[in-house]
Amino acid sequence: MKDSKIFELIEGEKQRQREGLELIPSENYVSREVLEAMGSVFTNKYSEGYPGFEDLEGSDDDVLASEPANHRYYGGQQFTDKVERLAIARARRLFHADHANVQPHSGAQANNAVYNAWLEPGDTVLGMNLGHGGHLTHGSPVTLSAKIYNFIAYGTDPETGDIDYDELEKLAKEHKPKIILIGYSAFAKVPDFERVVEIGKQIPGCLLMADMAHVAGLIAGGAHPNPLDFGFHVMTTTTHKTLRGPRGGLILSRGKVSNPLKKPEHTLENIPTLIDRSVFPGTQGGPLMHIIAAKAVAFYEAEQVSFQNYARNIMSNAKVLADTLIKHGFKLVGGGTENHLILVDMMGSFGVDGKIMEEMMDKVGLTLNANAIPNDTLPPFKPSGIRLGTAAITTRGMSRTEMIKIGDWMRRLAEICVEIEKKNKPESSFKGELAQMREEVREIAEIFPVPGI
Ligand SMILES: Cc1ncc(COP(=O)(O)O)c(C=O)c1O
Repeated sequence: MKDSKIFELIEGEKQRQREGLELIPSENYVSREVLEAMGSVFTNKYSEGYPGFEDLEGSDDDVLASEPANHRYYGGQQFTDKVERLAIARARRLFHADHANVQPHSGAQANNAVYNAWLEPGDTVLGMNLGHGGHLTHGSPVTLSAKIYNFIAYGTDPETGDIDYDELEKLAKEHKPKIILIGYSAFAKVPDFERVVEIGKQIPGCLLMADMAHVAGLIAGGAHPNPLDFGFHVMTTTTHKTLRGPRGGLILSRGKVSNPLKKPEHTLENIPTLIDRSVFPGTQGGPLMHIIAAKAVAFYEAEQVSFQNYARNIMSNAKVLADTLIKHGFKLVGGGTENHLILVDMMGSFGVDGKIMEEMMDKVGLTLNANAIPNDTLPPFKPSGIRLGTAAITTRGMSRTEMIKIGDWMRRLAEICVEIEKKNKPESSFKGELAQMREEVREIAEIFPVPGI
């Protein structure tokens, strides 16, 4: 008997996605093929361990033609080995990496696996201040990794919104971290990877790690620099944001790839194998083979020329939306955007907090999230800012006209927030206007269907 309750909820979510516009910068819409691979029979299979890593250099056909011995703990791997090898080969090509571990269940798992591969308890990591755009897994005291390792934070420059590289260098020289981590979830600039590599080279045994979860799709599409091209040793990412794959993690590395069943020497050159051993059995059990199949499909899609156009369009849409918001009086952290993401200081712009704006936008089917801005004086659940991005709406095929329209709606919604919050107007007096706007959003949303539904 079918579980009608859950399937009704799935239908409800489909309708929500179809009729609204997704502006959360970490979300996207996957293709029908990615969905199908995720829902495939590979979910039935246990595949602890790894496929053989030989002959991953050539085309997909070359990779399939070779069947090296695997390093698995279960039988029946004729198809899983090929799936995982294709995923690895495609990820290596996309990101110019010597090795790819496609097994992390999420971005957080990927980061923890890298820490566990390279660090001993008590070792120091220099990462971006969480309040300035860094991610929870980069040292938030509520995480397990922050209990194990010593996280030191660099910040951003309040004037430019960019990383304060002088501070980063000073802290690196003072604390001699074992890892320098460039990565963020609320930062709209392109990092100066070259400068960070120069800083890292001065610290013996320092691993250079980039968590590019947000911009991986831009990197894959050639629209954003790739930290591995500048000398970073490791890049972690999620596969579900701009990269437009299933929810999951990925670790790319430079170095020598060897048999994951044999413990290698603890050197930077051996980081690929140290990471493999840290993912499994270090921090995870069996891989999610249905998700790895879907990652492989997403990497295939990202290798197409159409994905390069997509990556460029995400960025040009973000620029148009940012310019429209600036014109309407929104103050953007860093003064604009160089990627897919826009961080707005709502309190500084209009005197209302980000949570109120988030809730107002939700009422008309525009989804984004309230977010802290650098040096925020408000608490995390009612922060000063909002964070939005263009990855998902670009997938739906929207462009300049729709970006301007979204900016216009946001201006009116900000004005309504001000009238309710500052001028004590009852929310009910905007009921008709909000219902009308909800209709307009629905109309535009239906012109641009959600792929996969
Ligand atoms: C920079 C960064 N790293 C890691 C993660 C964690 O990814 P996940 O939610 O898949 O664990 C995120 C998610 O938002 C992120 O933005």
